[in-house]
Amino acid sequence: NAMFSWQRTAFHFQPEGNWMNDPNGPLYHKGWYHLFYQYNPESAVWGNISWGHAVSRDLIHWLYLPYAMVPDQPYDVNGVWTGSATILPDGRIVMLYTGDTIDGVQVQNLAYPANLSDPLLLNWVKHPGNPVLVPPPGIGPKDFRDPTTAWLGPDGKWRITIGSRVGTTLGVSMVYTTDDFIKYELVDRFLHAVPGTGMWECVDFYPVSVDGSKGLDTSENGGGVKHVLKASLDDTKMDHYAIGTYFANNDTWVPDNPEEDVGIGLKLDYGRYYASKTFYDQNKERRILWGWINETDTEANDLAKGWASVQTVPRTVLFDQKTGSNIIQWPVEEVESLRLGSNEFNDVLLEPGSVVELEVGPATQLDILAEFEVEALGSENATVSEEGCGGGAAERSSIGPFGVLVLAHQSLSEFTPIYFNVANSSKGSGEAYFCADETRSSKAPDVFKQVYGSKIPVLEGENYSMRVLVDHSIVESFGQGGRRVITSRIYPTEAIYGAAKLFLFNNGTSANVKATVKVWRLNSAFIQPYF
Ligand code: FRU
Repeated sequence: NAMFSWQRTAFHFQPEGNWMNDPNGPLYHKGWYHLFYQYNPESAVWGNISWGHAVSRDLIHWLYLPYAMVPDQPYDVNGVWTGSATILPDGRIVMLYTGDTIDGVQVQNLAYPANLSDPLLLNWVKHPGNPVLVPPPGIGPKDFRDPTTAWLGPDGKWRITIGSRVGTTLGVSMVYTTDDFIKYELVDRFLHAVPGTGMWECVDFYPVSVDGSKGLDTSENGGGVKHVLKASLDDTKMDHYAIGTYFANNDTWVPDNPEEDVGIGLKLDYGRYYASKTFYDQNKERRILWGWINETDTEANDLAKGWASVQTVPRTVLFDQKTGSNIIQWPVEEVESLRLGSNEFNDVLLEPGSVVELEVGPATQLDILAEFEVEALGSENATVSEEGCGGGAAERSSIGPFGVLVLAHQSLSEFTPIYFNVANSSKGSGEAYFCADETRSSKAPDVFKQVYGSKIPVLEGENYSMRVLVDHSIVESFGQGGRRVITSRIYPTEAIYGAAKLFLFNNGTSANVKATVKVWRLNSAFIQPYF
């Protein structure tokens, strides 16, 4: 539908049409990155869930392939739901996924490629003995889904974890052991459980290196390794994670900081983001994170435009060695291959209350790196509101909000501020928030617009920094090198194509801010059918 064509993204993965949700079973095989995804072949709303399939040489340019799996068996006829891939040491690929059965029960099924020597992995075989797992006693038939990638324990058995809940308020992650991915044994305690968190969807569980710069394969453990546990919470519709220690002897995981446990501490992304999944890229020895960006308009609009949802750009995940308390997410380096010309703006003085346009040409496809230095205030003590981002970019404090306005119309009829709010002028010691304010992003009716954000660690001697990827209707913002990330799905009606501009702003009342910015225009990726 041409009426909505400006919303189509240029370098984010999205199907040609219809509905998409979770990323599934990402893997690298014989020179190709594979992405599968929850997909409705028939409509732009959720239903008939099948596995869409696409491949890429570089995680940027994508080729759509025929569906990998469709709901055609009693054990998955109501939907081929979310799952994960495991690459065995001998090179075989095991795919475990949830099937919604003919009776509406959630079960786990096994599938594998028909021909491993096919780099495109076009054909998938569902194991004739499916399902391989049914809900265990005490677990509801609709609370048992989304198996993880398997890891190998010290006893030589494989393990997977599956999210669920006990009753309605205890979110849990169960562990199963297996030798052959056909027969499984339930471990008699949870990997982890958090009261008050409800159903855990799309659990992800993986090691990170505390002192290295590479990603780790899923089975790595031991000295210098911590484990990230992530759950997508049904009720908050957010992806929550925590960092902790995995004890392989009894298959339990303990958070480093119990006050920042899964569901009550960190979020992977503070914006519009859900059902994410990582995989280990053995090609470049890195761990890569995919996430689903849902729509915030109406179902009627999605039907009218004929598609719904986008995937984020793939991001690398590393442990933050500087803070020791969060992971770092960063767009995969291949994104930089899309960079065209750039503009640099050095030491731009932003006085309190100023808005400054950056001349970069059409501002719909950008990679922005911005660093802000705050001039010290005299004796004045700066504070920010309790919520940090709560009031949006219109709410002034003495230091900030300051940052960029993206997808902004010349007349400022529409714009989206990505910004910092700071509660103390002395560098590093202050309380800082990283925020995205969608409230004035669109004049379209019936669009859900929110102020998103989080407190963000800014260390002694650091300036405030952000990287922002702009792609027509998607804005992915990475604060302080990726300690906090905010994804926005926005619906500009005027700030589109050539009318989209980029500005710097400082809406604080007292402090000057100096900005140094580099902006690349980004090329479009080729995302098209293979055949
Ligand atoms: C998460 C989710 C999963 C499920 C899939 C169904 O968005 O609800 O728990 O497997 O989507 O499409």
